Amino acid sequence: MTLIYVASSNKGKLADFAAAARKHGVDIRPLPGIEGIDAPEETGVTFEENARLKAEYYSRDVGGEILIADDSGLTVDALSGEPGVRSARYAEDAGIITNHPDAANNQLLLERTEGVPDSRRQCAFVCSIAAARNGKTLKTFNAEARGVLLRAAKGSNGFGYDPLFYFPELNKSFAEISREEKLRVSHRGKAFSLFLDWIDTNRLAH
Ligand code: IMP
Repeated sequence: MTLIYVASSNKGKLADFAAAARKHGVDIRPLPGIEGIDAPEETGVTFEENARLKAEYYSRDVGGEILIADDSGLTVDALSGEPGVRSARYAEDAGIITNHPDAANNQLLLERTEGVPDSRRQCAFVCSIAAARNGKTLKTFNAEARGVLLRAAKGSNGFGYDPLFYFPELNKSFAEISREEKLRVSHRGKAFSLFLDWIDTNRLAH
């Protein structure tokens, strides 16, 4: 088995990655003690920059093994790519203090796109995964899922902006599809699959 560390303590993300990785002989493990490590400031202006910055930073803690970190978010065409790299903190950046950031982010996004006509509501979930070793990026993997921003939440699965993201390919919102289905078509699932292909062709780790 190829051992790969992930800079995340998000159980859902780890489980999704682990399920896809198993078929490739890749053993996915969370970076031990990540909760106790001060997180680096995500100063990048692109998803790729932030993924690299996190992967390089945390890879120093796994003694020569490969570590991956991801960065993702929603980009709305009519808002020139917003919320973008600030997706998680969209409402917070607008001074909204809340214990329910997903709901506040969605609400703010709906408000800011109220005047955008149906024909101009295209958007994309974007994900960048960076693989690093000993503080250096080895490669990055970028993918997106294109969709249309809804005018009201639809579905109850998933997280974040999923209920507002209509995915024409499946004629459903991302909050109406199963986790397995989402992993197959999503930005994160596709970027991770590119990473697994790279591992398959290189078998860099041990
Ligand atoms: P992170 O980089 O994975 O922490 O994601 C940043 C933010 O982007 C999340 O807090 C969500 O608001 C949003 N986001 C990223 N991926 C998804 C997704 O698959 N569904 C819904 N929201 C997402």
